[in-house]
Amino acid sequence: MAFLRLDVSQIMCGIFGCILKSGDVAPLMRQALERLEYRGYDSVGEATVQSNKLFIKKDKGKISEVHAAVNLDDMPGSIGIAHTRWATHGAPSKVNAHPHTDCDNKVAVIHNGIIENFLELREKLEHSSHIFKSRTDSEVVPHLIEEQLRNGSDLLEAVIETVRKLKGAYAIVVLCSSYPDTIVCARKESPLVIGIGKDAVYCASDIPAFLPLTNKALLLEENEVALLTLSKVEITNSETGEVVSRAPFEVTWTRQAAEKSGYDYFMLKEIYEQPQAIRNALRTQRIYYDLVASRIDSADVVYFTGCGTAYHACLAGAYSMAKLAGLRSNVVIASEFNQVHTNLLDKKSIVVALSQSGETMDTLNAVREARARGASIVSVTNVMGSTVTRLSDVYVGQNSGPEIGVAATKTFTAQVTVLTRLAIVLSKKRGRTSSADTENLLEKLAQVPDAITSILKQQDDKVREVARKCKNLPSFCFLGRGISEVTAIEGRLKLLEIAYVPSLAYAAGESKHGFIAMVEPGYPVIFVAPNDETHSKIIGNIMEMKARGAHIISIVEEGDEQIKSISDDFIEMPRGIPGIMTPLAFVVPLQLLAYYVAVEKGHDPDHPRNLAKSVTVE
Ligand code: AGP
Repeated sequence: MAFLRLDVSQIMCGIFGCILKSGDVAPLMRQALERLEYRGYDSVGEATVQSNKLFIKKDKGKISEVHAAVNLDDMPGSIGIAHTRWATHGAPSKVNAHPHTDCDNKVAVIHNGIIENFLELREKLEHSSHIFKSRTDSEVVPHLIEEQLRNGSDLLEAVIETVRKLKGAYAIVVLCSSYPDTIVCARKESPLVIGIGKDAVYCASDIPAFLPLTNKALLLEENEVALLTLSKVEITNSETGEVVSRAPFEVTWTRQAAEKSGYDYFMLKEIYEQPQAIRNALRTQRIYYDLVASRIDSADVVYFTGCGTAYHACLAGAYSMAKLAGLRSNVVIASEFNQVHTNLLDKKSIVVALSQSGETMDTLNAVREARARGASIVSVTNVMGSTVTRLSDVYVGQNSGPEIGVAATKTFTAQVTVLTRLAIVLSKKRGRTSSADTENLLEKLAQVPDAITSILKQQDDKVREVARKCKNLPSFCFLGRGISEVTAIEGRLKLLEIAYVPSLAYAAGESKHGFIAMVEPGYPVIFVAPNDETHSKIIGNIMEMKARGAHIISIVEEGDEQIKSISDDFIEMPRGIPGIMTPLAFVVPLQLLAYYVAVEKGHDPDHPRNLAKSVTVE
């Protein structure tokens, strides 16, 4: 059964628009794209307008490669838009590169985000004889604008009418040959910022794009559309139609700080990006989940495999699928896979491989051997066009955007989100969860980002305080029961890999089978203790450690007075997160703890010693 491969969308791309009073805009746009390079790219494109004609150059590849091939600087005009694509669905290609245009090649659009209802929009547009060239979701935008222009709207009205039809996240920048002195841009969830220069105006996904040109900036807020000309910036709320007035602000960041959006390190920025990363992970089309669930359901043998944090995400996913869907599966570290498990596979087997980079050699070796034995391969990855996507029968994009910090944070919670949603869909398919309960679980999953936002707002300082107190302790232990064992193991890995603190992580019930010999007065034991079915037992484990003088640090549900009263420190999580979803929230304080201990010890959490972001060797 051939699996679908829909090129859906990009997230965390670099987008840039510019109007100059005089001079060629193309070289300036390329330089701006180079300043957005840290956002990752797999294809690049630019559009300019001169004498009411649209010029476009785009191709697959890095900025330097595409520039060498097509000379991006050689484009006429003082007005233009430019884009670097971070693909999350579908291999990078020239046809999928931005800008995308309408049928008459008058409207050019660049987009960062995920348009969830693009399939139905595309179907309607094709019914109205629109011809599509790419397979991205983004391409519906120029055709929708084309429709509105044909109906007599001006460019601003056309964009407003268009974005009202879009569901999902978008930051778009629109150029039209009939409006040679105007750029219109709009945003919802994806970032967009305007730069106001002396004889120029800019818009971009990030401030670094125009920071060397001006430090006068203006943020677009949710559901706002901006019309840019050299003489004015006019902001309209696309929902109410009201014109918004907003004063620009002066950017005081350095370029490096701006790339981190003001955070000290990419790792902290990426921890804070998790609410959006989970929302984006949930935007993958339902069709993928139904497909993968069917394949898993019909397989005789199901394996999950990955390395490091990806392996931990496999553990969480397998746990949820067992608990919700009654799925028997094997979770095997990828580097151990081929020793014995490969020989147990055949064409009725399925291997679910997790790899955010899609390039981890151990994972690829396991997948290659599994394929050689006829097993179906499903992968969950963050990089479209990566090797694992090419080895997969179907791949699910986790849509996390580039993760610059070596320690995986938002890519962990994104992967767990994907597997949790898959567990819910599989459980429904197997008749173990009613439609009502399925919808309730999916709703609870959709609410997790807000829970994480509140954790970040309310508990960051508390975690930092605990880190300051414990930063010189020689070792830590992380304990949890049920799915919280996975959260404990992942938290331990963070502390190990960026703070270099020798740490242990165990199923809490294992303590008395050996680990407890480690415990002496003051030894820090971190309990991941949600108010789920393991709650009463974890209290017993805490008391065991307390009796031996351990320093108890508990991650608990807010108001859990029982555990708070027996803990030396506690971090409170929002109530009501379903047990199988607790890793998504309870891992956040552990990520922060590792980050703050590392920083307190004077380490650079973005570049931990001995580690690479992607381990492409065996
Ligand atoms: C986790 O913080 C580490 N960066 C590392 O364990 C990583 O998860 C592992 O190397 C797997 O990487 P992948 O997801 O790109 O395959």
